[in-house]
Amino acid sequence: MMKFCPIPSLMLVAMSALVSASAHAADAPAVVQLAGRAVPDIQQLPPGPYRDLVEYGHQLTVRTFEHIGPEVQDLRKRFAGNNLACASCHQEAATKPFAMPWTGVSATFPQYRGREDDISTVEERVNGCMERSMNGKALPLDSREMKAYVTYISFLSRGIPVGATVEGSGIVQSKMPNRRADVQAGAKVYEAKCSMCHGADGQGMRVGKLGDAQGYIFPPLWGDDTFNNGAGMNRLIMATRFVKHNMPQGSTFDAPQLSDDEAYDVAAYMLSQPRPQKANLEVDFPARYNKPVDSAFPPYVLGASADQHRYGPYPPLVEKQRAMAAELKALGAAERAKAQEAGAK
Ligand code: HEC
Ligand code: HEC
Repeated sequence: MMKFCPIPSLMLVAMSALVSASAHAADAPAVVQLAGRAVPDIQQLPPGPYRDLVEYGHQLTVRTFEHIGPEVQDLRKRFAGNNLACASCHQEAATKPFAMPWTGVSATFPQYRGREDDISTVEERVNGCMERSMNGKALPLDSREMKAYVTYISFLSRGIPVGATVEGSGIVQSKMPNRRADVQAGAKVYEAKCSMCHGADGQGMRVGKLGDAQGYIFPPLWGDDTFNNGAGMNRLIMATRFVKHNMPQGSTFDAPQLSDDEAYDVAAYMLSQPRPQKANLEVDFPARYNKPVDSAFPPYVLGASADQHRYGPYPPLVEKQRAMAAELKALGAAERAKAQEAGAK
């Protein structure tokens, strides 16, 4: 039928393009700039259960070790497996631009996540960091702690519409040097620019004594009391970008203190040290073409060595991954076409 009336069908296409263009303009996603944006103030909230929960969420973020750490008195509350705080990485109570801030996270979740190859909720994302960055256990969905995290994240996200693009979210997507990271050079950077706070042995500096649940003045970077090998921070590209724009403490995305090479090498030195190991990492990234090239645990599907996934060079891996994704896509399209053909007969 269509064959005999090409004009109307073309018109239909043009019309629907117009309609979708205007619909697009009407709800064009907002762009929110975090740098310079006022941080929501808990003190402005009227007293009551909502404010109490936001406050508890804030406490759980900056003093995680005191409420759900491995040294708290109440054994049932020992959810985190290390004495870090969420704010050890999510700096400034998770509001610092490009230090993985939570501002706007309520507007960008639920979202697709490659690690699960599925749509993930804010709660699942919180538990992702509980089980990896905090080397601990998932919080029950109906626990007061989970509700407090979600409420605090939602409070920080006030005024940011669902679907908005948040400038300052995540970390700066800086380029990696196209070479294997130099762990020896990284050790020198560490000694000169990190050890005064994090310690020559990477164990940081505790506030008080072992077992007091008071956490750290300077958190450890490796050893038993830190993030495990399944954490985002254990990926070299992620760690390089975090360190480049956030360390030494006081650095910001617009005032970094390290060169790209220094950040890359010192992050590699940090990740070359021992840390807790997470069980069953092989089930991560079920759609293998999605697996970040700097995930340094098997299976390795690009035909590259474990060493290259750990220390780079990454640009060739990114290229291989792109080719693999394109191949899979073409295969999928061919299969769909075949199925359609079979269906038409
Ligand atoms: C060792 C560092 C570290 C610690 C500690 C940590 N996180 Fe994270 N977190 C990260 C990194 C890195 C990312 C980004 C990872 C990614 O994109 O895969 C992240 C991402 C997140 C996100 C999603 C942010 C976004 O923009 O989508 C949430 C929510 C989150 N973490 C919650 C928590 C909570 C809650 C805690 C404490 C219980 C915590 N994190 C502790 C490193 C950490
Ligand atoms: C002046 C002290 C200081 C220096 C120097 C410093 N840091 Fe930090 N670092 C901190 C503090 C404090 C935190 C916790 C976050 C916060 O409070 O801002 C932190 C957090 C971190 C974290 C995330 C939390 C964790 O324990 O894994 C990493 C990774 C890190 N620093 C790496 C480095 C590296 C690499 C260097 C050297 C290039 C460095 N830091 C230099 C003080 C310092």
